[in-house]
Amino acid sequence: MKTDSINKNNDKYDVRENQSIDLLKELHILTRDGKMNQDSRRKLKQVFHLVQFIEPIIGDLSQQQQAFNLVDFGAGKSYLGFLLYDLIAKHLQHPFQIIGIDLREDLVQYSQELAQRVQFKHMLFYQLNTQEALVSTDLPQQIDIVTALHACNTATDDAINFALHRNVPHIVLVPCCQAEVAGLLKEKKSKVLKNNYFSALWKFPIHTREFGSHLTNVMRCLYLESCGYEVTVTELVGWEHSMKNELIIAKKLQSSSKSQNASAQLKHLLLEFNLEALAPRFKLNL
Ligand SMILES: C[S@@+](CC[C@H](N)C(=O)[O-])C[C@H]1O[C@@H](n2cnc3c(N)ncnc32)[C@H](O)[C@@H]1O
Repeated sequence: MKTDSINKNNDKYDVRENQSIDLLKELHILTRDGKMNQDSRRKLKQVFHLVQFIEPIIGDLSQQQQAFNLVDFGAGKSYLGFLLYDLIAKHLQHPFQIIGIDLREDLVQYSQELAQRVQFKHMLFYQLNTQEALVSTDLPQQIDIVTALHACNTATDDAINFALHRNVPHIVLVPCCQAEVAGLLKEKKSKVLKNNYFSALWKFPIHTREFGSHLTNVMRCLYLESCGYEVTVTELVGWEHSMKNELIIAKKLQSSSKSQNASAQLKHLLLEFNLEALAPRFKLNL
């Protein structure tokens, strides 16, 4: 089936001219008869937007070097990896690998089988937990991009640590909901509310959740800056499409100048909000 006929049937379908309809069906984004439900449309929109942000990074890498390797952390069904392959990577002249990592064996197996069916030869999938990923010899020595799209809870932190450990120059993150910091804020609430002028920021449960999530991403950005990355934060798609919408793009600075200021700010936040328990994650001594 051609893209045109899909667009004719429903002009809101956001399928691109040059993409494989068979792949979209295999990914269950399109049904067998070429229809798309609301959830799939939302997912596709998010993935398209992310592809648009990653495309120029791949473009730059292709100018600078002969090959590139991308690792998608918490890949799930690997919508992102498959669409990156289909829309961009398969048109490149030089070698590349798109690698999905996930904790779940069933998803890894599903993705491996799908890659075989659609003959995407340069896709690899591994079932690895965080510690295994850090030391895995299956993964290539050089990794150029780490992505994590809605990797649950602290899996985004695992993706960051993996990227830092492997000295990866480009990191593209869309964090999922994050409950850990909200939990810590809640735990210390009665103690902190008395002494902290800012405590109104997280007094009510919904504010605890939202503020905890916001603080989490702020600390992630400071951590990346403190490790020598230039960080950009923006929204991925309109809020009507997803609540988990923050896009963090980090690029390793050539000068490898680490921001002392970011490190000091991060320390200050941990102390101010009684989050000392998180100091080891950010390799900080308080
Ligand atoms: C919400 S799903 C998102 C999947 C996919 N990135 C997407 O956007 O469709 C999160 C995935 O992260 C995986 N995951 C969670 N923690 C992980 C970890 N520490 N390491 C690797 N994968 C993890 C889960 O198994 C799950 O498949």
